[in-house]
Amino acid sequence: MQRRLALGFSLSLLAAAALSGAANAQSGAPFKIGLILPMTGQQASTGKQEDAAVKLWVAQNGATFAGRKVEVILKDDGGVPDATKRIAQELVVNDKIDVLLGFGITPSAFATAPVATQSKTPMVVSAAATSAITEKSPYIVRTSFTLPQVTVPIADWAAAHGVKKAVTFVSDYGPGLDAEKFFKSQFTLDGGQIVGEIRTPLRAPDFAPFLQKVADLKPDAVFVFLPSGQGAAFMKQFGERGMDKSGIKLIATGDVTDDDQLNDMGDVALGIVNSHHYSAAHPSAVNKKFVQAFEQANHFRPNFMAVAAYDGMHVIYNALAATKGKGGGDALLAAMKGQIFESPRGQILIDAQTRDIVQDVYIRKVEKQNGQLWNVEFDVSKAVKDPGKEK
Ligand code: DHB
Repeated sequence: MQRRLALGFSLSLLAAAALSGAANAQSGAPFKIGLILPMTGQQASTGKQEDAAVKLWVAQNGATFAGRKVEVILKDDGGVPDATKRIAQELVVNDKIDVLLGFGITPSAFATAPVATQSKTPMVVSAAATSAITEKSPYIVRTSFTLPQVTVPIADWAAAHGVKKAVTFVSDYGPGLDAEKFFKSQFTLDGGQIVGEIRTPLRAPDFAPFLQKVADLKPDAVFVFLPSGQGAAFMKQFGERGMDKSGIKLIATGDVTDDDQLNDMGDVALGIVNSHHYSAAHPSAVNKKFVQAFEQANHFRPNFMAVAAYDGMHVIYNALAATKGKGGGDALLAAMKGQIFESPRGQILIDAQTRDIVQDVYIRKVEKQNGQLWNVEFDVSKAVKDPGKEK
């Protein structure tokens, strides 16, 4: 039976699953969160960070909430989109989960969107960051970020700080193409010039030939987006080629100076100006408490993936409370729209129209403090909506 279902989920099975949420509450069944993450493979650091954050949330807020026992079912998709979709179908039809959470990369989120729509299951995207994801299903809510959201502020910063010619250097898939497009349009609008556009493969990239191209183009700056987990390898090759001393300024989204890896990058990372929505060094009381508890439980520093999963759980718990423990796909979704609360990153809003996150975006510089590297925030754009939605 299990096997037959895994091979082909019919629309009617997914539609039937749509009715199970409220029935679960009546029978006193646990409220189930299907957490799909890349725990293995190239994106495994995302899985590690998000899993740890979800566990911390449950430890702090209870495995019984709003009168329901809460069960998190963690599944490893290896960052393979076909696997993500198949696992989501199994979770919906067989495990009768109430909510989906996770999605380490854009192709995994894209592949799973129809499952959320057909089964009317809220799908909380806590990692993937291509602008268009929330438009793939009316049941998608995002707690991570979008590449246009974090890219526009660094384009403005570069143009205002003497960068006249820039090369874009991005991973060749959804979020990278968003970063390239929005850096180009904003930087050009600000009077800058793009003198080269470089794209690197998502899988197992060797950055050396691409870095040579940057050196040959001799821009004032190179703007880089790479997904979480690739920053350290990039910085190593950047340093080995002496590019940190070449006069070409490195600017980036904070995915590159990722808190998961930053401390191991060494001095080559010092001084890199980058933009993002979360730094482990964010100086708020809420964040200090979060970082301390996270480090105590895990012995590593939380990154932007961890905070997005923690906030994803916050959105889900708030929605469960709003339905007084009853759940149900449409009721949960309605209760997710418009939520506002203080996250470790600062104030966040789930835009009721777009179901995407509105948040502050910070300009940061990598600095050494007490022997450790941190992204130190020094400027902020408040309450940034996804520019990708402004048609
Ligand atoms: C995506 C993945 C990442 O690891 C990241 O840092 C940004 C975006 C993505 O696939 O959408």
